[in-house]
Amino acid sequence: MSEQVFPVPDHWAETAKITEAEYHERYARSLADPEGFWSAESQRIDWIEPYETVKDVSYHEADFRIGWFLGGKLNICANALDRHLETLGDTPAIIWEPDDPDTPGRTLTYRELHEQVCTFANVLKANGVEKGDRVTIYLPMIPEAAIAMLACARIGAVHSVVFAGFSPEALAGRIEDCQSNIVITADEGLRGGKTVPLKANVDAALEKVEVGRVIVYRHTGSDVDFHAVRDVWWHDAMEVAAPLCDPVTMDAEDPLFILYTSGSTGKPKGVLHTTGGYAVWTSMTHEYVFDYRPGQVYWCAADVGWVTGHSYVVYGPLINGATQVMFEGVPNYPDHSRFWQVVDKHKVEIFYAAPTALRALMREGDDWVTRTDRSSLRLLGSVGEPINPEAWDWYHRVVGERRCPIVDTWWQTETGAAMITPMPGATALKPGSASRPMFGVQPALVDPEKGTLLDGATSGALVITDSWPGQMRTVYGDHDRFFQTYFSQYPGYYFTGDGARRDEDGYYWITGRIDDVINVSGHRMGTAEVESALVEHPLVSEAAVVGMPHEVKGQGIYAYVTTNAGTEDSEDLRKELVQWVRKEIGPIATPDILQFAPGLPKTRSGKIMRRILRKIAENDMSNLGDTSTLADPAVVDDLVANRPQ
Ligand code: WT7
Repeated sequence: MSEQVFPVPDHWAETAKITEAEYHERYARSLADPEGFWSAESQRIDWIEPYETVKDVSYHEADFRIGWFLGGKLNICANALDRHLETLGDTPAIIWEPDDPDTPGRTLTYRELHEQVCTFANVLKANGVEKGDRVTIYLPMIPEAAIAMLACARIGAVHSVVFAGFSPEALAGRIEDCQSNIVITADEGLRGGKTVPLKANVDAALEKVEVGRVIVYRHTGSDVDFHAVRDVWWHDAMEVAAPLCDPVTMDAEDPLFILYTSGSTGKPKGVLHTTGGYAVWTSMTHEYVFDYRPGQVYWCAADVGWVTGHSYVVYGPLINGATQVMFEGVPNYPDHSRFWQVVDKHKVEIFYAAPTALRALMREGDDWVTRTDRSSLRLLGSVGEPINPEAWDWYHRVVGERRCPIVDTWWQTETGAAMITPMPGATALKPGSASRPMFGVQPALVDPEKGTLLDGATSGALVITDSWPGQMRTVYGDHDRFFQTYFSQYPGYYFTGDGARRDEDGYYWITGRIDDVINVSGHRMGTAEVESALVEHPLVSEAAVVGMPHEVKGQGIYAYVTTNAGTEDSEDLRKELVQWVRKEIGPIATPDILQFAPGLPKTRSGKIMRRILRKIAENDMSNLGDTSTLADPAVVDDLVANRPQ
């Protein structure tokens, strides 16, 4: 099935903005004449002052720097809102669909969204927020999340959105790392009929780290504790704020946001994106990947707590004047038809989601899909993890009725927007392949050990050999970690952490992470993070965490835990440790299997042999490889014999 090729449908070839010939022509131009190419593309943004230099980049340690559109001045919020008022003022910008289909939704036109954003920007100012300050946003999928982000951008504050599924501990760590003095939250979130105690989580986080102000949006209306001096209600503050607020002039390289993401070592990193390059990059990719034209109804089902929500719910689509659905809920509530009912209700034309959601729905049978209409759908997208050919086929055949191309977009929090992706009018599709690079992107494969560039059809570590406008600029507060993490392994290249194969047609097939990062339901989790949560438990002396194949999540979390001498490794303790990780990080970090390990396989120098742990987790006992160099080979036999099924 993976060898199948789906040519560009005729009507897409005839009508799309980018055809096959144009793709090749523009891609070649973007590399041969980057100044010319990006000067033209940068025109999509309204600049307050034009930039002087398109690009100033060196990936080498001695003069390491990444800058785009240097000297240019702009405001990204004004690009997303103000400039549309004249032509799209009464056009819906956000059509909000609540968790419960029986409660009323909300629609905000560009004019209404603009007014809300300006008013909330004044609220931020009244609460002491100034340009450059970090604002933590811990909100569910409600329009206020976009309003808060855009209000920050309007006044030059740097937002740090923390996914509302993260624990108080994880929230506290992120508040502390970027020294933010204000948190925007809601009383509760609502997902699949269950409430999420957001305000209570914030209160718990603020026992560990202090902030001056908490702004609370009343969403479910339930009772929450209120700290008389520190906490204010969103609606009270909005009532006394003026609805006009001039956007501040930002430098192209002024910080726009921080978004924490898991790496292979240590605590999550604060990925920092800046303003000008990110604006051009998200808007350009949104337009070409989705062939977007104002008036079309677009729906990206990602949460604003992840980069997909930043780039393809908030910035890209709004800069392009899109009309979009924003969905609070989950794919299987109240039943497994929910996604497609929302598509029908709002006549969604372009739908973008993660493979994990598709796999979960696929298991429930086709009927949940086929009983809905879906005739509005024209284009489907996939993001966040490799889409297996079976899920691709189901998405294409059942959801899209073979009519809708699928854009499988490979990118990362660090890359800002889509890097390797089909375009519907330009790319013949191969199920499971993210296909070819976006304009300006130069992927390459290197030998993972030697670091040498590999030619032709081959596999290797995926690197990008030169910068693109939406590249992250630093790890917040730790520029050295930025260089070390991404540029030191293969000098002169940005290392993605992914492995990939390139076929005879130059198509890329992402095979997944080759570092100690696992991808659980399209969300990144560092094995080191889960390990450090486990060893914080008083009864745990050591832990090793690896990924394992999981039918729905893509990858699951497999934890090997060594408890303190004298501890009884009981079923109760296993449950307690699983709960402990949920509480320390959040439900997405829940170990799928937790195995007590009296010993871990280590080399004589004390290094844990993860390769062996991965094989046991994969239940691939025949490929454990050479265990003779282990300090105590018997521990492997014990782990194999006691692997929970
Ligand atoms: C990692 C980045 C892309 C934004 C959401 C996730 C994996 C992402 C694909 C894809 C195969 C993919 C990679 C990447 N990934 N998209 N289309 N095909 N793998 O962003 O949390 O920063 O994760 O997700 O492994 O490195 P993220």
